[in-house]
Amino acid sequence: MNILVTGGAGYIGSHTCVELLSESHGLSVDQLIIIDNFSNSKPDMLEKVRAIAGRDFIFIEGDIRDPGKMNALFDTYAIDAVIHFAGLKAVGESTQKPLAYYDNNLTGSLVLFETMQSHGVKRIVFSSSATVYGMSNPMPLREEYPVSATNPYGYTKLVIERMLMDLAQADPGWSISLLRYFNPIGAHPSGLIGEDPNGIPNNLLPYVAKVAAGKLPALPVYGDDYDTPDGTGVRDYIHVMDLAGGHIAALEYVMRNRGVEAVNLGTGHGTSVLSIIRAFEKACGHAIPYTVTGRRPGDIGTCYADTEKARRLYGFEARRTLEEMCADGWRFAKERY
Ligand code: NAD
Ligand code: UD1
Repeated sequence: MNILVTGGAGYIGSHTCVELLSESHGLSVDQLIIIDNFSNSKPDMLEKVRAIAGRDFIFIEGDIRDPGKMNALFDTYAIDAVIHFAGLKAVGESTQKPLAYYDNNLTGSLVLFETMQSHGVKRIVFSSSATVYGMSNPMPLREEYPVSATNPYGYTKLVIERMLMDLAQADPGWSISLLRYFNPIGAHPSGLIGEDPNGIPNNLLPYVAKVAAGKLPALPVYGDDYDTPDGTGVRDYIHVMDLAGGHIAALEYVMRNRGVEAVNLGTGHGTSVLSIIRAFEKACGHAIPYTVTGRRPGDIGTCYADTEKARRLYGFEARRTLEEMCADGWRFAKERY
């Protein structure tokens, strides 16, 4: 089977490619083809994927918005299924540069889906996000809850989900997984690949790791007056290797089933910011300075997944502990940051 991965040099894509290339699952991957334009990643990640997996893959440097490039790719390789990670993902930046987000995420997805359609490729696993649940649903979040968005990034995820649902409605030959990720953290246990954002991180874990590595002075804790056990925000953190395993399970499912399914990938458990700080201190062996500041606009107090559908449909369950997430994340960060 030949799999195309868009955005495979990125954080989640690189870990998923390692899993795809390993032989620890029921899929038989003959050729893995990765396309990435390195807009938010570096070529050495791909070298590291090769080194960890001990297997080669085909890499095409390019932009998924380029129809000529995408047609040539699908003409050259007999693709059986696509895992679609390529996209811009920073919520704050999306409010500053909305057109860049609509162009990259929507045009890119449209060109990809059109090229798939014209080549008769109808199996896709798409990176959606828990952000599509908006701010007013009860916890744990279930897939059938209403969706909404509060920023351009979230709208792009909603629209891409909608495009794929409409496609499945128009043509029952499509097999589609909309994976709604909760908060992926950690790194491959080798310490070779992980999350390496440019500049000051927006997300909690890379920020904590940069403080632990001495690159930033202190973590701002965005509010300690939420209705949570210690007042700080609670999220469903999932090890990126578990998330990668979720993609394998989703791919196995779309190879066997038709139609479209939205599925949460999380652990079903919430962890507070202060608990994350404590767990990371244990991993790195020293204190992590922090200062409580005001709430970040747009944040909610608590967010975690209902994981029953992933278990029922994919037989998927996240296994790795918070300790492993922090230990693996630190192993990568202390070398790279
Ligand atoms: P990432 O930025 O590390 O990876 C995305 C990759 O796509 C990068 O390597 C980038 O260079 C590439 N890319 C972007 N636009 C492209 C284009 N037009 N053509 C070709 N390549 C392009 O992000 P990630 O954390 O690995 O996230 C992957 C996907 O998962 C994204 O779609 C993101 O929105 C989604 N997601 C991420 C999170 C998270 O917390 N990391 C949570 C929910 C959903
Ligand atoms: C953010 C995005 C969300 C996206 C998700 C995964 C926003 C408003 N939301 O959500 O759309 O789907 O990432 O990519 O950006 N925190 C601190 N200090 C920090 C950073 C974060 O205290 O420096 C807190 C936050 O208030 C939150 C928790 O840590 O309680 C996790 O934050 P973050 O990693 O940004 O993820 P989300 O808020 O879930």
